[in-house]
Amino acid sequence: GNPYTDFPIFAANKNDIWEIERRNLIIHNDKKLGSGAFGAVYLGGKTNWKSLAHKDANSPLGINLMRAENCQVAVKMLPEYADEMSKHEFLREIALMKTLGYHERLVNMLACVTESEPLCLVVEYCDNGDLLQFLRERCKYMMKLDDLGINYHDPPENDNYDTNMIVTLKQLLQFAVQISYGLEYLSQKGFVHRDVAARNVLVHEGTACKIGDFGLCRYIYADQSQYKSKGGKLPLKWMSPEAIRHYEFSIKSDVWSFGILLFEVITLGGSPYPGMPPEDVLPHLESGGRIEKPDNCPENFYDVMIQCWSADPEERIEFSDIRMQLATQLEDIT
Ligand code: ADE
Repeated sequence: GNPYTDFPIFAANKNDIWEIERRNLIIHNDKKLGSGAFGAVYLGGKTNWKSLAHKDANSPLGINLMRAENCQVAVKMLPEYADEMSKHEFLREIALMKTLGYHERLVNMLACVTESEPLCLVVEYCDNGDLLQFLRERCKYMMKLDDLGINYHDPPENDNYDTNMIVTLKQLLQFAVQISYGLEYLSQKGFVHRDVAARNVLVHEGTACKIGDFGLCRYIYADQSQYKSKGGKLPLKWMSPEAIRHYEFSIKSDVWSFGILLFEVITLGGSPYPGMPPEDVLPHLESGGRIEKPDNCPENFYDVMIQCWSADPEERIEFSDIRMQLATQLEDIT
């Protein structure tokens, strides 16, 4: 048998605390927020969520709906014509999210519609979209400013600049600390995300990062240290050597990917190993090659990245330690 038992999927029923009626869900079909491997994410309308939270005030749904009250939501919807495999994967993602528990640094699940198709997953809406796009827009803006380049160390305080578009080192460190909190939580709960990257982090109100897209996330049972993927299309430049070579995904391969995410953050959306063909990445890493310290990147920040990229997964830094080191760096500049 397969020791890497997949996550159980529970059939939807009327008593499921997460299930809401489709007529209570407003979906703005003309406001597509993104599209993934299957289906797309749309802006949801304001709904009287509180009235839906009647089933159990202490249930996660009750708590989440209370938080969602008068908030906009995002709705991930799988088209009705999707194949059985996509439906299965989507139901698995929904089942997994039900067990995650609420955390400030996750794009939390609010509700779902699985009793009929199209299947819908309702999550918190993040008004700035994904972190990669967020950083790249600001990078472009800062590059246009005379003489400044992307110097986030001495950002201009002049009124002529759009302060929303000026990125500071403090903000970047806050983002990094927030994301490490989210991943520390996931790892404590026994989950491996497997697709940690700036494109899968969402930004809300310009200040809050939340980990999103749990499509590839897996629950690791207590007696297992890692999950072996059966393959599929995975982003090589974010993957650890053991993940590329043996499809071995663990919390330690998430740590490696987080190091690449730190590179994306500190370069305001830079691409890792630019110009390198994906098939050259593994030989490069196995001969000891690593991404060099980017311009303007503080030494101690790069030092965290390097600790994420130990060849031996056992020697790699842990999320709690990453979070502490980054928080100390943040304290030191404020
Ligand atoms: N794109 C994908 N998911 C999103 C969300 N929850 N909020 C905003 N944009 C998104």
